[in-house]
Amino acid sequence: MRIIFAQSTAEAQGIVASMLLEKLELLKNPVIGLATGRTMEPVYKILTEKILSRPIKLKSSTFFMLDEYVGLSPGHSGSFKTYIDTHIRKPLSLPEDQFVFPDVHNVSLTQAALSYERSIQECSGIDLQLLGVGQNGHIGFNEPGSSKTSRTRVVKLTDETLKANKSAFKNGDIPSEALSMGVGTIMEARELVMLATGDSKAQVIKYLVNHHDDDSCPVTYLKSHPHFVLVLDPDAASKINLKI
Ligand code: GLP
Repeated sequence: MRIIFAQSTAEAQGIVASMLLEKLELLKNPVIGLATGRTMEPVYKILTEKILSRPIKLKSSTFFMLDEYVGLSPGHSGSFKTYIDTHIRKPLSLPEDQFVFPDVHNVSLTQAALSYERSIQECSGIDLQLLGVGQNGHIGFNEPGSSKTSRTRVVKLTDETLKANKSAFKNGDIPSEALSMGVGTIMEARELVMLATGDSKAQVIKYLVNHHDDDSCPVTYLKSHPHFVLVLDPDAASKINLKI
């Protein structure tokens, strides 16, 4: 794991946006895994502004999502599909078929999970997977207790996650399940880039630094990935004790 300690939140967000931009510019057919959540909103704003200010062709790029809620109507304002439309797809005027979501409207969610895994493989895997982290150490929606080899599947969200995410839903009416890439699926991406900002993430980041392969905190699995970069702002890094 490589840790980048940014001097400010804006710097941390800018670093991650540049890493994404570099892949989109340099690779012939970039396959990017996107994350949702409040942490990523400023990153996508920087990224879309940078893309619009220069001639980058995105026609051959494909974007996969980490997860999606189960049980929402298509186009629901709290869905991750709406989030991605708002923050990336529409600002860049990109067609829907460049963005692949787990098909939460399929009558068989088991089939939807298998077919999502297949779609990733058919694109020769993910070049760069962007990640945030939940305060309880979840990645995607792989909650504590998820196994390191888990694949895309239906997951039950913990009370802590429901509480943290419910502000995106009117009346706090958040679904209790999601289809999420598994930890094993995430670990197959060629590069992982995680951004954590704000003091609400300081505790889980401290835990990550001090633990390895701990199933009570799935983010710790990522430390065995050969190309895992963790980008921190000063608040998220504030509880790390570096013994130098
Ligand atoms: C969400 C998403 C994750 C995200 C995390 C942190 O539930 N499933 O992909 O990284 O929780 O969200 P936030 O950035 O809002 O803290």
